[in-house]
Formats: sequence, structure tokens, C-alpha cells
Amino acid sequence: MEKQKSVITMKNISIEFPGVKALSGVDFELQSGSIHALIGANGAGKSTLMKVLSGAYTHYTGDISLDGNHVVIDSPKTAKGIGVDIVYQEVDTALIPYLDVGENIMLDILVNKMGKKHFVNWNHVYKKAQEALNRLNINIDVKKKVEDLDLAEKQMVLIARAIVEERRFLILDEPTAPLSNRETEELFRIVRDLAKNHDVGIVFISHRLPELFEICEDITIMKDGKLVITREMEGLTSKEVVEYMLGRTFDEEHKKESVEIGNTLFRVQNITEKKGRIKDINLQVREGEIVGVAGLVGAGKTELCKTIFGSYQTASGSMNLRDKKLAIKNSYAAVKQGIALVPEERRKEGVLVEEPVYSNLSAANLARFSTKLSFLKPSKEKESAREMIKRLGIKTPSENQKVAFLSGGNQQKVAVGKWLMTDASVYLFDEPTKGVDVGAKGDIFDLITNLAKSKKGVLYASSEISEILSITDRIYVMYDGEIVKELETSSTSEEEILYYSTGGK
Ligand SMILES: Nc1ncnc2c1ncn2[C@@H]1O[C@H](COP(=O)(O)OP(=O)(O)OP(=O)(O)O)[C@@H](O)[C@H]1O
Ligand SMILES: [Mg+2]
Repeated sequence: MEKQKSVITMKNISIEFPGVKALSGVDFELQSGSIHALIGANGAGKSTLMKVLSGAYTHYTGDISLDGNHVVIDSPKTAKGIGVDIVYQEVDTALIPYLDVGENIMLDILVNKMGKKHFVNWNHVYKKAQEALNRLNINIDVKKKVEDLDLAEKQMVLIARAIVEERRFLILDEPTAPLSNRETEELFRIVRDLAKNHDVGIVFISHRLPELFEICEDITIMKDGKLVITREMEGLTSKEVVEYMLGRTFDEEHKKESVEIGNTLFRVQNITEKKGRIKDINLQVREGEIVGVAGLVGAGKTELCKTIFGSYQTASGSMNLRDKKLAIKNSYAAVKQGIALVPEERRKEGVLVEEPVYSNLSAANLARFSTKLSFLKPSKEKESAREMIKRLGIKTPSENQKVAFLSGGNQQKVAVGKWLMTDASVYLFDEPTKGVDVGAKGDIFDLITNLAKSKKGVLYASSEISEILSITDRIYVMYDGEIVKELETSSTSEEEILYYSTGGK
């Protein structure tokens, strides 16, 4: 049975926030049954445009119509009423941590029943939630509390919520950022099925170009709150896409600069985490060395970083910085002893979203600003914040803006910038380029290279093998909480890293 084709048309959409013109006269069209890529640099306006469409931002001007009929989208509820649903980029804001997986997946339905003298059939709730997870081929217990899930699992819960009720239009705002390759493939299978067999129109936002080329038929490119071009994907190269979004030519390849590598700076010996999340870890980092930690999502890279940083307790083992034995009981002690961590879940752990950009950029660093220079503090703080905003190209009206108001990728840059401003000896980066656009990725690579040049040691954890290959000197491969292989970057390959990452011996 053919479903009726449907189209949503956004015309001349503009929206402003204090000090920011986020969208200026943008046109966008979404057909049912098609998969439409939406791309642009961090802060270009992608999420904002989709928040207008899904009813989160209602003070827009311009016209929206469904199949030629004018509609006013004045709340998420109206958006859902005309068949539009969204999986937000800010995963944590959309979930209720103390409820379980089943309740979170069925949240809209449960909320709708509230106050309507409906009684909730819990068997039915969990059964439907389970069905949605099965469709995604995801194995998460529906009775597990959401606060106990990792980021990838939380993302899957949100996607399950979006598909549990059939919608005509579905917006996925960077859904694959925390996902492994396998999970991404599952998601693509579902997305294709929704488009082809259920005639759902899908907007797919991602900074990973190959993904867009893999599943999207149409593409819209934005820059600085404006539409650059909208067209079919076919016949377009990834180089052209990057040029449209950045407005300049750009070489995506990062060329590794050679930095002189000195003595051993940091050594981890036989570290095992209390709950066994990582086991018998031995590694070292030399001065000026960038050391990769490769491994699939779930291999223990984040756990390794958190253990070194003192967020997780060790059961045994020791750590040394030069000749000094480190005593790291918590992350405060880690910072004091010269270890810095740019965490993976940055919105939750890496930035204070309710605070302004400048105080975030110095949060890890308060001591430096508040002791000797105390009388200079605010101006000094703001001055170096402005410097970091420039170096990382953080898009914000000023250093005084609340971090919550920045785009997703710009929040990431603040989290990275904050630690670059501390004077640590060893820097741990956990997926530092997640959610940042290709241009900004180059800036982050440059800053990391500068750390190496100033004789710092860097541990770079990422599931993006191509990144590990382009920036590191040496690589540890993790599998199931252990380091299973050490490789020299110059003499290894993507295939070899993948082989050990998947348990090859
Ligand atoms: N609630 C808000 N208050 C103030 N400014 C906002 C708000 N929401 C968005 N902005 C601003 O609008 C601009 C566009 O942001 P948006 O989140 O749409 O970017 P994006 O293209 O999704 O970027 P990213 O790739 O980083 O997710 C940014 O400059 C952002 O700071
Ligand atoms: Mg966004």
C-alpha cells in the first residue's frame, strides 16, 4: 500500500537571540521518503533550524507549510501533531536519568496519558519499548536506569523513542557521534527502512562526511545562519561540501609535524581499576609525544582516561610523573599533580553550561588566576578567554555568553580550550573532535601539536582510526579493558589497528 507523499516547506526562516542572528532567511524543504543531509560548520544554524521545525524555538519569522498548507509550529506538541519528531544533539537534556530505559523510550506516550484518567499498562509499555530496541537490534535491559547507561546507549534510547511512534518526519541531530561502527550500521539500516518502506522524511545532521555520502540523497549546506546550497547529493564531492560550508578551500588531510621526542615523562604500571573496568594497564608517554589509545566504543578508553585522572579508583598499580610517584585519589589531586583530562561527555563533565564562556575557560585554572594575580583577576581571565576564543574559533557573541547558548560543537571547543589553558604536564583527550566541524578539527590538532612542541605528553583516545593515524607517534590498542597491542604509527595501518581492536591476536 502506497502511503501518501508529503512535504514540509520552510520559507525565509529567520530567528534571533540576544546578540546573535542565528538564522537569516533560510529556505528548507523535506520530502517524505527521503534522507536529507544538513551540514555546516559549528554554529552555522543547523540545530536552530531544526529546533524551529520541531517546535522548540517558536519566535521565528517566515513561513512553514505542510503539503502547501500554512502551519504555525508553536510547541513540540504541535510539531508532533503534524508528524515531526527530533532526536536532540544534547542527549542528556532529553532523558530523565532516574527513570528506566522503558519509561524513557515511552516518555511521550506516558506524558500524554498523564492526568487523563488513563491507567498505564506497564506490561504494554515495556513490551513496546522492547520492540523498538529489537528493531534497532540493540541489547539494553528495559528496566535499567538511564543514569547507568553510557553515552552510546543513551543515544540509542533516544532513537528508540523517536521510532516507537511512527512519524512522518524525523530529525536526527548528530545521532552517530557517540556510536560505534556497528551501531552506526544498525542505525543506517533503520533509517533506510524508515525512508524506503515507511515513507518517513529524515533530516540527518553529522560532521562525518562519509556517512552523509553513504545514506543521504539530498543535501543542504549552511554557513553563518544562511543557506549556501541545497541539491541532490549525487555528483558532489566531499571537497566541494567542505568548501561550501567553510567558504574557503580546505585540505582535510592533517599533515603530522615532526616534534622532537624526549625522555619518559609519564608512566602507568599495572593499573587495575577497582571494578575491573580496566585491567593491568602498562603504558608510557614521553616528552613531546602524542600517544594514541585506539579501540572500539566500549573497549575501555574512557575508563582508562578516568582512572588515570582519578575519577575511578584503582585497585592496584602505580603512576609516575618523571621520577615522582603520583598519588591520585580524585580528579582534584590529578589536576594538582599535572594531569589534565578533556572528557568525552563534555556537556555533563567538561563544562558548566550555566556559566559564561570566560569562567569556563578558566575553571580548571582558578588557582592561577586567583592567587598572585588576584587583583587582576576578572580582566586577566577575560583577556585569556578572548585569546582562546580566537585560537579555537569559538563562535560566541562575547566571552560573557552562557555556555548553554553556544552550539554543540562550540561547547566542545570550550571544554577543550579550558584544559589547554591549564599548565599540566600530561594531557588526556577522550574523543576530542566529536561533534566539531572539519575546520575546527584542524585547529584542535594544531593546538595538540603545540602542546607536544612545548614538551608536554599527550594521550589521545579515539575510536576514529584515521585521526589516530594522522596525529599520533605511537599507539596502544585496547580491547575489553586491556591494552592488547602497541604499534608505531609510522609503520601501522588502519587494517592492523582494526584487527587488534576487534580482538585479533
Ligand atoms: N538559545 C540560544 N540562545 C542564544 N544563542 C543561541 C541559542 N541557540 C542557538 N544560538 C546561537 O545560534 C547559532 C547557531 O547555533 P546552532 O546550535 O544552530 O549551530 P549548529 O549548526 O547546530 O552547530 P554545531 O555543529 O556546533 O552543533 C550559534 O551562534 C549559537 O550560539
Ligand atoms: Mg548543532
